Amino acid sequence: MINKITLKLGLWFFFVMIMIEVCLFFVLHTGLVESRVEEELQALLARGNSHREVLEDSYNKETLHHIALMELKANTEVIITDHEQRMIISSSKVDSEEQKVVSKKLRNVPRNGKILERRWENEPYIATVSPYLTSGHQSGYVYMFKSTDQIQGLISKLNEHFLFAAALTMALLIVTVLFLSKALTTPLIQMKRATEKLSKGDFSVRLPGRGEDELGELSRSITVLAQDLKHLKEERNEFLSSISHELRTPLTYIKGYADVARRKNITEKERGQYLNIIYEESEKLSTMMEDLFNLAKLDRNAFVIDLTRIELSSYITAICKKMLPAFQEKKMNLECEGSEHIEVMIDPLRFEQILINLLDNAIKYSAPHTKTSIWAEREKGKVLISIKDEGTGIPKEDIPFIFDRFYRVDKSRSRNLGGTGLGLSIVKELVEAHGGQIEIKSERQKGTLFLIWLEEAIE
Ligand SMILES: Nc1ncnc2c1ncn2[C@@H]1O[C@H](COP(=O)(O)OP(=O)(O)OP(=O)(O)O)[C@@H](O)[C@H]1O
Ligand SMILES: [Mg+2]
Repeated sequence: MINKITLKLGLWFFFVMIMIEVCLFFVLHTGLVESRVEEELQALLARGNSHREVLEDSYNKETLHHIALMELKANTEVIITDHEQRMIISSSKVDSEEQKVVSKKLRNVPRNGKILERRWENEPYIATVSPYLTSGHQSGYVYMFKSTDQIQGLISKLNEHFLFAAALTMALLIVTVLFLSKALTTPLIQMKRATEKLSKGDFSVRLPGRGEDELGELSRSITVLAQDLKHLKEERNEFLSSISHELRTPLTYIKGYADVARRKNITEKERGQYLNIIYEESEKLSTMMEDLFNLAKLDRNAFVIDLTRIELSSYITAICKKMLPAFQEKKMNLECEGSEHIEVMIDPLRFEQILINLLDNAIKYSAPHTKTSIWAEREKGKVLISIKDEGTGIPKEDIPFIFDRFYRVDKSRSRNLGGTGLGLSIVKELVEAHGGQIEIKSERQKGTLFLIWLEEAIE
């Protein structure tokens, strides 16, 4: 089946090429015919002139006969007249058309002769005339005639050649057009089908790689788009299932404890305990909701990052002061280093959230009497903030997923510590919203190092 675009492109191409071809053929044909006729006329004139030379050399009866005889054998004809255009001799019988030409009054014929009849298409002859003047004062004209049948035959042969060439090029053109338009439009049509499949939710499209041109790029972009969409869809499904899973646990607790707390045969103290659990679980739920809400906002880029120039060492010291009690409670050390004066453009509130999330993890996943440090420095033309703990570390195989939503290394342990696995994904989104990057280096039982790269504020 021929596609619409193939047909359209093919027809356009075909018509343009035909137009060009017709013009070219026309110009070539007229040029060839004209030069061919001109050649014939000049040859005829030259022949007349050469007879004239002979005549002027020795004008006598014999020469006249000789010239007539010569022309009898050739496919041209000669008529020699005196100066009053009265015929002296002719190579063959003079017909009425020739008579008409000879009887036309001649005026100012140049020495080298002139062309009398050049209309080869309508007249039976082309004709030239050359004047002669002998030393014996005999003068007159040498008329030369050539039948146009011959020229017409020649031209019609030329036309045949042209027709053949035209038919050949037409056939070649059709083949080329068919091939070219197919070759040009096939990738387009494949891509159209691929995008149709995509819009129907079928992400299994694979387009063949097509070189380095724009079409190749487009086809690669579509393949990448399909993969991205597939990934997004899977991610969304995973996200929905993990969200419902995460909600189920606290809700089960709340429901269960609320049920127990309703009973009449329990002490006030017990009821208080149960209500506490319910309160804690609801608290967890609302933090989770808050986190999810923030993540959704970050995803939509609806999060307003209000950049201010901040001096890092004093900013970090202030956060350390805030977090110190939490570390002390778990008998851990918190060290803030770095006295370099470094300024960055950050949103102080959002950035605090980043650091607190990371420090909170350090507390949660480290044993008592270990040390956590945080410091800022200049490194490779950027600003580097490092947070290092001596905690449990993260297994190598978990590191690639550590920034994913709800991802926790040890699910039950983290849950007991109150974690939902959203902290690091928020950290990553926030760092990126600041135009920075975050890296992680971790070794089991040794500790974890988070590296945050930012641009230094220009003076
Ligand atoms: N400093 C760390 N040392 C060891 N493991 C860590 C550290 N930070 C994060 N992890 C691991 O990465 C997981 C994901 O961390 P993340 O901060 O995203 O979630 P969370 O702390 O469990 O919950 P949330 O931060 O949402 O309260 C954690 O469950 C933990 O297993
Ligand atoms: Mg956390």
